[in-house]
Amino acid sequence: MDNFSSRLIEWYKKNGRDLPWRQTCDPYKIWISEVILQQTRVAQGYEYYLKFIHRFPDFQTLAVADEDEVMRYWQGLGYYSRARNLHEAARSLSRLGHFPDTYRDVRALKGVGDYTAAAICSFAYNQLHAVVDGNVYRVLSRYYAIEEPIDSSEGKKMFATLAQEIMSKDFPAVYNQAIMDLGALVCTPVSPRCEDCPLADACLAYHRKQCSAFPVKKKKVKVTDRFFHYIYIYNSISTFICKRQHADIWRNLYDLPLVESRKPMTEVEFLHSKELDAFRKETGLDNLSIEMELLEKGLKHVLSHQRIHASFYGIRVPEGFENLTGYQRVNIAELHNFPVSRLINQFFSVFLATNNLKR
Ligand code: ADE
Repeated sequence: MDNFSSRLIEWYKKNGRDLPWRQTCDPYKIWISEVILQQTRVAQGYEYYLKFIHRFPDFQTLAVADEDEVMRYWQGLGYYSRARNLHEAARSLSRLGHFPDTYRDVRALKGVGDYTAAAICSFAYNQLHAVVDGNVYRVLSRYYAIEEPIDSSEGKKMFATLAQEIMSKDFPAVYNQAIMDLGALVCTPVSPRCEDCPLADACLAYHRKQCSAFPVKKKKVKVTDRFFHYIYIYNSISTFICKRQHADIWRNLYDLPLVESRKPMTEVEFLHSKELDAFRKETGLDNLSIEMELLEKGLKHVLSHQRIHASFYGIRVPEGFENLTGYQRVNIAELHNFPVSRLINQFFSVFLATNNLKR
């Protein structure tokens, strides 16, 4: 075994993390762990993984689960299309009757890309497929001081080929875990711990004191600001929500009545806005007065490509108010059954807690 792999594996044996998905060869469990870990750090993903696997221990159980329940287990993780894809893929696995064991068939599952297919095939079946995630890009780009941007199509191909060439041919599963752990624990995005790195003496970026220059990226992520004005419509028993169906963030999660504006608005501007006017007409709430902002400062929620600036208003409706066009009435005591975004969850926690209400 060459130097790169053997040093990495030796380091991993002493320093690698003991994680629940590393104690199994069950491709289903590995698949779930990888999809969770694509969007969250291990520390947070850990609990989600254990709860998800406890409730849905195999693809057959996941396949027959109710979508709202699956989304509830995903709530807070973000990237909700991944949960929908998991659910859909579980249904096709259920029709197939077994988890596939070739890269091609695993890669064909809904939502499974090159990274996840390589992770499943190497960890579950010890097949020779190199994983290439953010950790691997970092380790390889620094070790070889590669100037090729990782977000160009040539760069992606080049890193995939290199990763495949240098991976250990004897221990693919351990090697893949090792390179990811080195990236997560030592070769970190900022302040890498080069003094603890088993590869430092041959690492070009380290010798040139240029670790922070790698990996190279072509473009900056463009972040859009969005301005959400939520209207909590309620009485002592009920409130109104709707399922987000359109192709936008948080699809299939439940949401409060929402008015979006292109520009930020103060409370006074919002109360006199044409957007609010339109909302009142659509819902038939023209004659009810709107309450001051419920949370003094509103909430800010940052996603990978969007910054949501949210303010919250209230409209109190009479007891017995049943119908609101476009929304479903739910008992406040049953709100916890509906999967919502982290932002709405935060609103509920703050608002209901400060008003001594129960969810
Ligand atoms: N990040 C993505 N996959 C991982 C894994 N299998 N172990 C630790 N961190 C990871």
